[in-house]
Amino acid sequence: MTSPADTALASLEFAVTRNPAPRSAAEREAALRDPVFGTVFTDHMVGITWTDGEGWHDARVQPYGPLALDPAAAVLHYGQEIFEGIKAYRHADGSVYTFRPDQNAARLQRSAHRLALPELPADLFTQALRELIAVDGAWVPSGADQSLYLRPFVFASEPFLGVRPAREVSFYIIASPVGAYFKGGAKPVSIWLSEDYARAGKGGTGAAKTGGNYAASLLPQAEAYEQGCDQVVFLDADGNVEELGGMNVVFVYKDGTIVTPASASILAGITRLSLLELARDRGHDVQERAISIDEWRQGVASGDIVEVFACGTAAVVAPIGQLKGHAFSDEQPLGELALSLREELTDIQYGRRDDRHSWLVRLDG
Ligand code: PLP
Ligand code: COI
Repeated sequence: MTSPADTALASLEFAVTRNPAPRSAAEREAALRDPVFGTVFTDHMVGITWTDGEGWHDARVQPYGPLALDPAAAVLHYGQEIFEGIKAYRHADGSVYTFRPDQNAARLQRSAHRLALPELPADLFTQALRELIAVDGAWVPSGADQSLYLRPFVFASEPFLGVRPAREVSFYIIASPVGAYFKGGAKPVSIWLSEDYARAGKGGTGAAKTGGNYAASLLPQAEAYEQGCDQVVFLDADGNVEELGGMNVVFVYKDGTIVTPASASILAGITRLSLLELARDRGHDVQERAISIDEWRQGVASGDIVEVFACGTAAVVAPIGQLKGHAFSDEQPLGELALSLREELTDIQYGRRDDRHSWLVRLDG
């Protein structure tokens, strides 16, 4: 789905149309005070169009607002859609950085490949983030644990009901100031084991960040809420742990070994990747391998597993305090590693600690 011209395309000229009625500074400050995740949006968004004939073109910054979509737009029928989640962080000197955008750009390309969508060049991805921050930089909050959550997404906008990859595709980035994802900040979360539903299957779309995976997680997630749990964990067909609805999962063993599921059908998280790198730097043995639900439960019962935590961009790191299923409820041991890795990662992201891996990319100025 990527023509040679697209791959060579590193940047585009963005046309900027300012919002004629942006929020006032006072309104913005009020909105930034304690935003509920994903409910507040900035004054602008980025758009880029792709067509079969022209490739990526018509790059623009435009006022945030509803999209006019043909009712036959293929995304509404066949779900040809992918997205990303990445944050902008305000440093103490006022500058704005993002974290490993090359990784998000590469994952968006992998998702695009799986969903038969065109691949957005990585440089254009980062340029688009910069263009949005150039007009909406004031929306990057500066409170503790706050950030501007950036949501790039790509969907089939071609009006066509035949089942084939769309020949017209839209890319947008919207931005939403956020604080802690879970009420209670880094307090331990409870997890419902989805025994009746799977999120992904062999050869499916589990490794792609595509809306359908999240649609498939909503019913089991609703079950989790009914059971008083915060999140749902999914298994594969062999009983191996995959991931949560919107986060990866990591296990800490009493000898310091760190284990996280290896699976072709999970979303390879950039938070997970980074935490594993930080843990390796500290001398931990890090293993990506299959871990079954039995190994999890037995490991906790025997004391071999001393900590379990979830991680992702939105929630950062969340210790898991309870695992519940239809016929059991296991308290989980709480340790210090999750919180200490969380602190190290967020210190890097917010510029409080040396960025020794060169993960940060400046978005403003
Ligand atoms: N797994 C799923 C299903 C997710 O939605 C996310 C969040 O983006 C993750 C894992 C973690 O990925 P990342 O750390 O890149 O945000
Ligand atoms: C993220 O962490 O970026 C996610 O996508 C998780 C959820 C909000 C879907």
